[in-house]
Amino acid sequence: MIWFALWREYKLSIAEIFTVFPEGKTVFYDKDVLILENLNENLILEKANFLWWTIKIFKIIDNEIIDDALNIEWKFKYGISTFWDKKNLKEILNSTKKILKENGVSSRFINKDFKNLSSAQIIWEKLVKNGTDYSIIFDGDKKYTWKTIWVQDIDSYSKRDYSKDRDMQTGMLPPKLCQMMINISSGKTIYDPFVWLGTVLIESILMWNKKVYWSDLNQTMVEHSRNNIFKFVQENNVILEDVEFIKLNAKFINESSILLEKNIDAIVTEWYLWEIMTQKNISIERIDKQKESLISIYEKFFENLKKINYTWNIVICFPFWEISWKYIYFEEIYKTLSLLCDIQPLFPTSFENITTKAWSLLYKREKQLVWREIFKLKIKT
Ligand SMILES: C[S@@+](CC[C@H](N)C(=O)[O-])C[C@H]1O[C@@H](n2cnc3c(N)ncnc32)[C@H](O)[C@@H]1O
Repeated sequence: MIWFALWREYKLSIAEIFTVFPEGKTVFYDKDVLILENLNENLILEKANFLWWTIKIFKIIDNEIIDDALNIEWKFKYGISTFWDKKNLKEILNSTKKILKENGVSSRFINKDFKNLSSAQIIWEKLVKNGTDYSIIFDGDKKYTWKTIWVQDIDSYSKRDYSKDRDMQTGMLPPKLCQMMINISSGKTIYDPFVWLGTVLIESILMWNKKVYWSDLNQTMVEHSRNNIFKFVQENNVILEDVEFIKLNAKFINESSILLEKNIDAIVTEWYLWEIMTQKNISIERIDKQKESLISIYEKFFENLKKINYTWNIVICFPFWEISWKYIYFEEIYKTLSLLCDIQPLFPTSFENITTKAWSLLYKREKQLVWREIFKLKIKT
């Protein structure tokens, strides 16, 4: 059994895990945890670095900590965490240390003040590498011991994402969200027809994709993203296999030479101008105006993709708004989608109670009034 520790936006984590490991069979889930069986540990380790929304991965073990310790010649350095019933941790740490001592094992636990370990502590102390980070869970009288097999390297992750002259701009798709969208698209050769700064494509290169394609209505953005992407590629010594970019109004996506000539396998994109809305100036009228301008493009966009029988996945964000503590969804786009697209489920059917009515994923950021609704789509055949 494998346990995935999830991020705060746990539905995005779960959707991503099922895209990467569709063979997983659900044993249990809640907002912190997804437990799956039928997974191969080696495969998990191979693919884990593509899970941007998982914090840690554990496997269940049927031996005791002391059995591991007796097999280690050096001082046994370890960590223990507990979940749900955290008050036991001090007792668990002390009794484990006592058992180890009674068995002649010299040991040291890393936990400070009898608290659960952070990812940074686990990485710093190399506990995953040594196989000595444990999580203990009680279910009534039953005790389950889990061993950490992977931890998200948050430090190198944030350095990688934000240090390279890639300041977050207002409205820019957050890199972590881009990665998740790329993941659920299952694409290796991605096309972004509303490219703007090239964020989606830079993220896709970071995920080892070697072919990138883009277009934009605005020639300046076509070139600006080219500069961004080429600079990024150069700085990171990446060799791309193919690149193509054109100026194009996405309304006429059916005329895109990229779609017609290149073997792309996903469209991952977002078009929204992210007009700044504040508590003071947000209004239903403004939202309606935004919806109108978006729908006029998107209707044509989907219609024209249908015209050329586009068959690959489309992962796309639409906005939704909060006004006086009420959510305003982009319901007009739902109509277009129901006519022209098949919305792809992001969870197994047993997860029905956590999906939205529209089968989408919601991404909210505090202190903002405009949020994102993410869909995975296929054009109806
Ligand atoms: C604000 S950006 C969206 C970027 C995305 N949020 C991100 O962070 O990568 C919108 C882009 O869509 C482009 N755009 C607007 N209307 C378009 C159209 N009809 N066809 C193609 N591109 C369009 C704009 O020039 C701009 O570059």
